[in-house]
Amino acid sequence: MTATDSAPALVTERSIDPLGFEVPSTVPTHWYNLAADLPQPCPPALHPGTREPLGPEDLAPLFPMALIAQEVSTERYVEIPQTVREIYSLWRPAPLIRAHRLERALGTPARIYYKYEGVSPAGSHKPNTAIAQAYYNKLEGVTRLTTETGAGQWGASLSLAGALLGLTVEVWQVRASYDAKPYRRFQMEAYGGVCHSSPSELTEAGRAILAATPDTTGSLGMAISEAVEVAAEDPEAHYSLGSVLNHVLLHQTVIGQEALEQLGDVVPDVIFGCAGGGSNLAGLTFPFLGRNLREGTTTRLVACEPAACPSLTQGEYRYDHGDVAGLTPLLKMHTLGADFVPPPIHAGGLRYHGMAPMVSHAVNLGLMEAVAIDQDTAFRAGVEFARAEGIIPAPESTHAVAAAIAHARAATTDEVVLIGLSGNGVLDLPSYGAYV
Ligand SMILES: Cc1ncc(COP(=O)(O)O)c(C=O)c1O
Repeated sequence: MTATDSAPALVTERSIDPLGFEVPSTVPTHWYNLAADLPQPCPPALHPGTREPLGPEDLAPLFPMALIAQEVSTERYVEIPQTVREIYSLWRPAPLIRAHRLERALGTPARIYYKYEGVSPAGSHKPNTAIAQAYYNKLEGVTRLTTETGAGQWGASLSLAGALLGLTVEVWQVRASYDAKPYRRFQMEAYGGVCHSSPSELTEAGRAILAATPDTTGSLGMAISEAVEVAAEDPEAHYSLGSVLNHVLLHQTVIGQEALEQLGDVVPDVIFGCAGGGSNLAGLTFPFLGRNLREGTTTRLVACEPAACPSLTQGEYRYDHGDVAGLTPLLKMHTLGADFVPPPIHAGGLRYHGMAPMVSHAVNLGLMEAVAIDQDTAFRAGVEFARAEGIIPAPESTHAVAAAIAHARAATTDEVVLIGLSGNGVLDLPSYGAYV
């Protein structure tokens, strides 16, 4: 039983009701919560004014109670509502594929697998949490969701969720991506979402940033400030975050739980996942980390971040805001500073100044490692992967592919390497232009 099972019956529209068909048993029934297995609890989020640990009431203007409960839950498993499982079954379980041709191309004895999230309707892992977040908001009677997006994968995913569950979605997209990558905006609009370039004239935060730095290329931290401000002012609206927070990471654990099942007795020696805010990495690796902690397996977990925005490898581990305007709670995380504006690299989804507190905590405890990959190396690996396996990885995912390829090239045994292929790059093809 989850908190939401007893939520008030505010909803009359049928979009939220289960259709009642039998969802295949290969679609996970629960999300996995790493908090249950951590040797030390993750430091709590603090109120930005008092610096005291946040209470549920502090988060209530922005999030539904079910998600607030998940944010602080220490239960190992959280049941996935039937409506959410039904929607997941449109593309889940996502395939786990042995990269035979890549192995041959690299001449490696390593056995390489990849877990492919690009089969979702939006093209990435992001709908795993977008659907869940939209569901719980709808259940609480919210009619409008606001959010930020980088390259647009998250904005498209939340717009998709809004379409399926009957919510209005309004997105602030980082200006560099808004200008350079219009296709995901069209995707958002096709799903009925509304997309603004950030910083915008629509919010106080956006106007202040534009007055100080009119030519800014924008950042996720700025776009978050705008989306949070709008949600906080509208009683019918809530804010939705595409990464970083515990409940977002929780929803993504369908990835790793499926991979555990699909691998059966095969225990990966090392897993590589790209890391922006940390959600796909956590989603893939946390179920394996939980097994390491409970059963003593020794799977290595490697976060792959861009050299242009290296929060884990170069940032400080301290309390910081999630946004530029200082509207969000203080999170204990690896951070480059909330006002850090990364260069406008192609992997827009990896341009975040901080890292999920749970991922930061795991790295700090020595349970996870991190590497930084430069953009050229990442894209070259993306092209190499595409020519061997056929799938063109999202620019974000190429960071994991690059680290895995370097590892496999040096391998001398048939060790098992697992890559998190978080999305496809078919709407990012102009970014590949310089590398083909
Ligand atoms: C395909 C893809 N992979 C990875 C990321 C990075 O985000 P996260 O670290 O939360 O998975 C993004 C973000 O937009 C993305 O679109």
